[in-house]
Amino acid sequence: MARIVVITSGKGGVGKTTTSAAIATGLALRGHKTAVIDFDVGLRNLDLIMGCERRVVYDFINVINGDANLKQALIRDKRVDNLYILPASQTRDKDALTQEGVEQVLNELSEDFDFIVCDSPAGIERGALMAAYFADEAIVVTNPEVSSVRDSDRILGILASKTRRVEQGGDPIEGRLLLTRYSAERAERGEMLNIEDVGEILAIDLLGVIPESQAVLTASNAGQPVVLDQESDAGQAYLDAVARFLGEECPLRFVDVPKKSLFGRLFKG
Ligand SMILES: Nc1ncnc2c1ncn2[C@@H]1O[C@H](COP(=O)(O)OP(=O)(O)OP(=O)(O)O)[C@@H](O)[C@H]1O
Ligand SMILES: [Mg+2]
Repeated sequence: MARIVVITSGKGGVGKTTTSAAIATGLALRGHKTAVIDFDVGLRNLDLIMGCERRVVYDFINVINGDANLKQALIRDKRVDNLYILPASQTRDKDALTQEGVEQVLNELSEDFDFIVCDSPAGIERGALMAAYFADEAIVVTNPEVSSVRDSDRILGILASKTRRVEQGGDPIEGRLLLTRYSAERAERGEMLNIEDVGEILAIDLLGVIPESQAVLTASNAGQPVVLDQESDAGQAYLDAVARFLGEECPLRFVDVPKKSLFGRLFKG
């Protein structure tokens, strides 16, 4: 049985797809057979970030509609063993994502995979609800700004009420916070919320903090999940988050303002 993880946020453009690619790749690097599914019907971003857009033949909706089977639609990553991508469809028909169809695909994947990572679209419409409905746990991606935190709070409400687990009388699924695009300098200057501020508002466990990093843009332009750039701050921060996700203790990094050297202080005051 696979563990189904939804990567969600409420607000758009905060780093869900970047995170889905990074976490799925990180789990596969740790030896877990992992599938990452793009629920963003109509947009198709995940395959670009994973660098497999030219290999897309069939997609998630094709499988739901019975036009292709999972074997035909799943794309096996060429760099990392155990990693598979199920791309989104470019159809505009978002209603194609039916609950029964999604359930059937997840059930079939569950037999063969350790983890299924669901990249949710923004907002609280069908795609986002479907990505969350069958999840066993959630990673709530938030940027250190008020509007992003507020929308994450709304998503936490949905996770607490609109999942299969809750509808069947079970406990709400656990959501953990991933604070991304964090800049310790800007937080210290009061230009963005700091980790404590966000933690106080959202009151959920912190899975990790990913720094604002040029490496993310460079990696996504190259079609390479940023965790494969293990020299980069963001790549290392994502690998730490994967370790915590797997239950390991791992101190936070990249969250303090780097101390200026004596040389730097003398010359910059
Ligand atoms: N840690 C980071 N540092 C710098 N830029 C980042 C970081 N994380 C994400 N970004 C950038 O933010 C933008 C949005 O990222 P991404 O597409 O992952 O967000 P999303 O939440 O999936 O968006 P959508 O809601 O549209 O699906 C991208 O340009 C990405 O490169
Ligand atoms: Mg996205």
